[in-house]
Amino acid sequence: AVGAGDDAARNLSSCLTSHGVTTFSLPSSPTYAALLNSSIRNLRFALPGVGKPAAVVLPSSKHGLRAAVLCARAAALAVRVRSGGHSYEGLSYTTENRVPFAVIDLAGLSRVRVDGGSATAWAEAGATLGELYHAVGTSSRTLAFPAGSCSTIGLGGIVSGGGFGLLSRKHGLAADNVLDAVLIDPSGNILTRDTMGDDVFWAIRGGGGGSWGVVYAWKLRLVPVPDTITVFTASRTGPVELVAGLVHRWQFVGPNLPDDFYLSVYLPTGGGSSPDSNVSVSFTGQVLGPKRRAMAALRRSFPELGLAASELAETSWLDATAQFAGLATAADLPDRRLGSKQYSKGKSDYVRSPIPLHTMAGIVRYLATGPPEGGCVILDPYGGAMARVGSGATPFPHRAGTLYGVQYQVYWDEDPGEAAPVGWLRSLHAFMAPHVSRAPRGAYVNYLDLDLGVNDWTVAAGGSSEAAVAHARASWGAAYFGDNFDRLVRAKTAVDPGNVFNNAQSIPPLVNV
Ligand code: FDA
Repeated sequence: AVGAGDDAARNLSSCLTSHGVTTFSLPSSPTYAALLNSSIRNLRFALPGVGKPAAVVLPSSKHGLRAAVLCARAAALAVRVRSGGHSYEGLSYTTENRVPFAVIDLAGLSRVRVDGGSATAWAEAGATLGELYHAVGTSSRTLAFPAGSCSTIGLGGIVSGGGFGLLSRKHGLAADNVLDAVLIDPSGNILTRDTMGDDVFWAIRGGGGGSWGVVYAWKLRLVPVPDTITVFTASRTGPVELVAGLVHRWQFVGPNLPDDFYLSVYLPTGGGSSPDSNVSVSFTGQVLGPKRRAMAALRRSFPELGLAASELAETSWLDATAQFAGLATAADLPDRRLGSKQYSKGKSDYVRSPIPLHTMAGIVRYLATGPPEGGCVILDPYGGAMARVGSGATPFPHRAGTLYGVQYQVYWDEDPGEAAPVGWLRSLHAFMAPHVSRAPRGAYVNYLDLDLGVNDWTVAAGGSSEAAVAHARASWGAAYFGDNFDRLVRAKTAVDPGNVFNNAQSIPPLVNV
């Protein structure tokens, strides 16, 4: 396989050079490791045992990007597209079964053009959320974009999978605010909304990255925000019963607050070996309005939280995005090098009926037995605009009736082998089964989880089979997309019947079978 990879890399290299693309790196190059590792966030996939690409290509124009796709195909390499590199399962820079592959990294395609007059922006897909937020927030204090909170996430991945954030109860997912897109298909055609067809334009807005082609750029609808908003993080520590009581009560508050309110829950793992140990919880809040209004509404609807005026601060949306990204100032938002690199594993769920108080106490107790300082559970409130979009309007099906999303995370700094934290995470996920959505048990495609099932491609262009489609439909397809899965298969078959854009959980096409 190594020899085949070497030949392929030579072919790729001469093809790229003949197309005028010189920014690529082969394993023999001194820049290769730094370029490959530049945006790997999850160190599980930087270990020496993980198969490495035959080349990393860093195009700097749409035409260079197109050439990269065509040259990788001509060299019989599998294509892996990377924007911000935040894939929880490393799917943007690894392959299954050691198939030789090339990474096409869009970090050099990160221009953002804001048009304040029409409240729209064109953003190249390699731009990070921080680059987008900075461009939007510095162009106007009253324009914003609804997406995630970590500044180094790439627009290529997050928008492809939906994109939930602090503005989503007011304005929906990032994908709900895509007006147009430029997609390069497997044959090198450059498609827009008008030419890609309705099914494909629908699929690229929530059907997950890596299945459809390369998104070169998104046209985004920017949304209005007041020039002053209110933010807070309210932490509480106490006995299990107190914390469970707050989280139990939150289930009735968070998803039902006015759309201008976002209030999420963060529960760290660890904290208690004995049944009497104190545990903690924090509530992250953003309110699109002044502190006075935020205080009045939260004191009325959630008096148990005992929010003090001193816990709230007024700021601009731009400064709030920096704060929630953990940055010192908004000037750091465009810096792609910031953010931590750790070993990690995530899983997700959706809750449709409030969890009873005694069960919530059991969950909080279970979390207390988890890795100390090495994990968390985050509850994201839905409702509002999230519930007003139909469950088939985009591939993302978790809409009306979903109270909140659950994200489970474990992370660790050394590589002792993954058994302990990942095993604990899986047992937590099993423990939660009776309390979350069922038939199907939902999951969020942007919180990729290969435990749900995988494709088993053994060649660069994955192929197509009824069995692959049935397997995907019955496992991760149902969890991520519910009833939308079959339309995704139709879109895939239309745009990429040869399955050039594949990965461990890409949508399989259904051709001639
Ligand atoms: P990456 O480059 O790894 O790509 C992810 C997938 O999309 C891969 O399959 C890749 O091939 C494909 N892809 C990338 N660029 C593409 C392109 N231009 N065209 C086609 N396919 C492309 N999510 C959320 O909704 N809200 C949040 O607040 C957060 N917060 C968060 C914090 C942290 C620290 C992490 C690690 C992750 C999140 N996420 C999140 C999840 C995040 O949305 C998800 O991991 C995205 O897929 C990341 O997109 P990147 O472009 O960074 O990833």
